[in-house]
Amino acid sequence: MPDPMKISFAKIPAAPGAITVVLAGEGLALSAGAAALLEPTGDLLARAAASERFEGKAGSALELVAPAGLETGRLVVLGVGKAAELKPLDWLKLGGALMGRLPAAAKEVAVVLELPEVEVSPEAVAEFALGLRLRGYAFDRYKTRQKPEEQAARPKVTLHVVDDVAAKRAWKKREGVGDGVVIARDLVNEPANVLTPTEFARRAGELSKLGVAVEVLDEKQLKKLGMGALLGVGQGSEQESRVVVMRWDGGKEGVAPLAFIGKGVVFDTGGISIKQAAGMEDMKGDMGGAACVVGLMHALASRKAKVNAVGVIGLVENMPDGNAQRPGDIVTSMSGQTIEIINTDAEGRLVLGDVLWYVKDRFKPQFMIDLATLTGAIMVALGQEHAGLFANDDALAARLTEAGLATGEKVWRMPLAPEYDKLIDSRFADMKNTGGRFGGSITAAQFLKRFVGDVPWAHLDIAGTAISSPASDINRSWASGWGVRLLDRLVAENYEG
Ligand code: BES
Ligand code: MN
Ligand code: ZN
Repeated sequence: MPDPMKISFAKIPAAPGAITVVLAGEGLALSAGAAALLEPTGDLLARAAASERFEGKAGSALELVAPAGLETGRLVVLGVGKAAELKPLDWLKLGGALMGRLPAAAKEVAVVLELPEVEVSPEAVAEFALGLRLRGYAFDRYKTRQKPEEQAARPKVTLHVVDDVAAKRAWKKREGVGDGVVIARDLVNEPANVLTPTEFARRAGELSKLGVAVEVLDEKQLKKLGMGALLGVGQGSEQESRVVVMRWDGGKEGVAPLAFIGKGVVFDTGGISIKQAAGMEDMKGDMGGAACVVGLMHALASRKAKVNAVGVIGLVENMPDGNAQRPGDIVTSMSGQTIEIINTDAEGRLVLGDVLWYVKDRFKPQFMIDLATLTGAIMVALGQEHAGLFANDDALAARLTEAGLATGEKVWRMPLAPEYDKLIDSRFADMKNTGGRFGGSITAAQFLKRFVGDVPWAHLDIAGTAISSPASDINRSWASGWGVRLLDRLVAENYEG
């Protein structure tokens, strides 16, 4: 993990820092602590605000360089909007918005996190800190000639709050979730010449430091298990395939685990049904589902979640060599069901089919949730603001939807129905791996459904949300780390204690 920015907590009052930050609600109301700090500046703030038309709108900021009367290089007044209505997600975005305002040269930042009339809870402070951390993330490990002003700011930030002890405690619980998002982003941003299935498995192995039991299944073991669908995808690559099983047993012994399954195609050329060249480089991110599962397991373990959880990822590279799988090939999956390969580019479902079946068989989980950059069609349907949600269980779907709204990692439910299922019946085998041009995301989900039996199951198609991410308050990186916060929240709200 890249060295994270340093965030610490202290009481109010704050002495001015190299960069001093205070909050202002609508109407420019300042807290007692902020007002005391700015007292020596007289009516400077009022005059500056009038001239800049700064009204304290959420995420807006007024910046004053070397303000007279205050021993600070820069004063930032961060607008929070309607202070009484701030939710955790708003605090997260505010932290991100502030980070976006800090110059690359910022070394020390003192923030007075206090509002007039409303109390800023420790959880709100932690969420603000998380926003700072996530917005401060940059994947620059391969930029050898970056000028200082192009480098990401990694300042020391002190958050001055009413109860610094409680804030610190809240951040301790939240920090690991931030690390989980960063781990997922790093994995997704990493190129496929570095992040092979074996290297991915090695990195997942680092979770053992947190008490996660990690098992790596190699090709010999996968063959013995009968995972012909997964192995068929990887057979055209020089790189061997892997399945990684990660277990966190923080709950009561004997309680069935929650299961999270990720598509980990480290690179997707399309195979023999090869993709066009333009944009193919994006397919280094075709393991965004697996990355999320690793990030989630890190989050759960680091905050010692009181839950039994298992994460299982299928790691393969989809390449077109002389041994590659062909259209027309028929493979036998671990479930015994046979699959006719129509298009070797519909490989994610082949990987997931075997992993879902394996997880159902071995762990008899309370539910299975899989994440996959599965179809281009989901972007046509939903764009990049919602992931596609498919589920055989209304309660699970409702919980995911709620967690999505709370975290901003939103999902939108899509249909499953027997009529779509017919589209993947095959003339030669039990099913085929594509269902034609219409409803491409739905037929992909129907395919997965054939491998989950009666287990409550949800499938998240994250092709639009995990990679090529639009700029947001909390992310400027190509990889978003999507799903870690969503699933951490799902677990925390519904399955612990
Ligand atoms: N990995 C792709 C889906 C994808 C596309 C993810 C763009 C992220 C961005 C997947 O393996 C794929 O190639 N799907 C095909 C399915 C088709 C052949 C039925 C697709 O979406 O075109
Ligand atoms: Mn593909
Ligand atoms: Zn793919």
